Amino acid sequence: MGKLDGKVAVITGAARGIGKEDALLFAKEGASVIISDIDQAPLVETAREIEAAGGKVAWCVTDVTRTEDTDRLMDTAVEKFGDLNILVNNAGITRDALIHRMTDAQWDICLDIILKGTFNCIRSSAKYFRKQGHGGKIINVASVVGLMGNIGQINYSAAKGGIVALTKTVAREWAGFGVTCNAVAYGFVHTRLTDEKESGDIVAGEAVGIPKKVRDSMLEGIGGKAMTPEEAARPVLFLASSDSDFITGQTLNVSAGMYI
Ligand code: NAI
Repeated sequence: MGKLDGKVAVITGAARGIGKEDALLFAKEGASVIISDIDQAPLVETAREIEAAGGKVAWCVTDVTRTEDTDRLMDTAVEKFGDLNILVNNAGITRDALIHRMTDAQWDICLDIILKGTFNCIRSSAKYFRKQGHGGKIINVASVVGLMGNIGQINYSAAKGGIVALTKTVAREWAGFGVTCNAVAYGFVHTRLTDEKESGDIVAGEAVGIPKKVRDSMLEGIGGKAMTPEEAARPVLFLASSDSDFITGQTLNVSAGMYI
């Protein structure tokens, strides 16, 4: 028996990284997963992997900054699998710069994708979650930098701090409907966002990643070991399963001591 048998889960930013592993794990635990991302090719590839492993999956290309997209995403879940029980707001991006050098575009893209994107998805899910007796689980992806700040990340830390506050508001507003809403604040997970910037990926026109020197010193503080995306998915499963039924409005710090 899987921990998510019979549940329908929507996951954003699921083409790669942590979101992809959430999807693989949820499907393995019996959920029907609707994976979404702005990047179609790796999204379809992820769907193939889930299917090949025997999972139930559908994909939906979604830009979380667009309300039309997020409305369509939630409706697709219900059309394909008959319900919506779990929503993981995982899509995110970094655009690092020191405060005096940060451009309007760098500020806006972080706030739009992380904070507004999460709000858009939650608002689009309201017609399914705000039903008496329906219940549901919402998991938002925050970051330890939203709790402690970080040099070069005024945009990202503000957006992730906003996720912590937004999570508490959803928890209060929808507690009466039996919906829980929690956040996961990761420290260092090895994905393209935390690869060495010098050899890193270009995402939406800019290099993402962390300069090698900064990266090495961050890793030193946690015993040299970054979490794998597979390891990062497990606390999300906990918050999506009935094991966490009485937990809401909380931010679970998953950082190996990067923030205490
Ligand atoms: P990733 O870059 O591997 O995955 C993020 C996914 O979000 C990508 O597939 C990307 O295409 C998608 N995405 C970007 N903009 C989008 C949009 N407008 N609409 C829909 N999808 C969009 O990065 P990773 O590390 O897996 O990140 C997942 C989440 O974890 C993010 O919210 C990130 O901020 C958060 N996080 C990651 C940490 C880490 O150490 N890697 C630490 C703390 C938080």
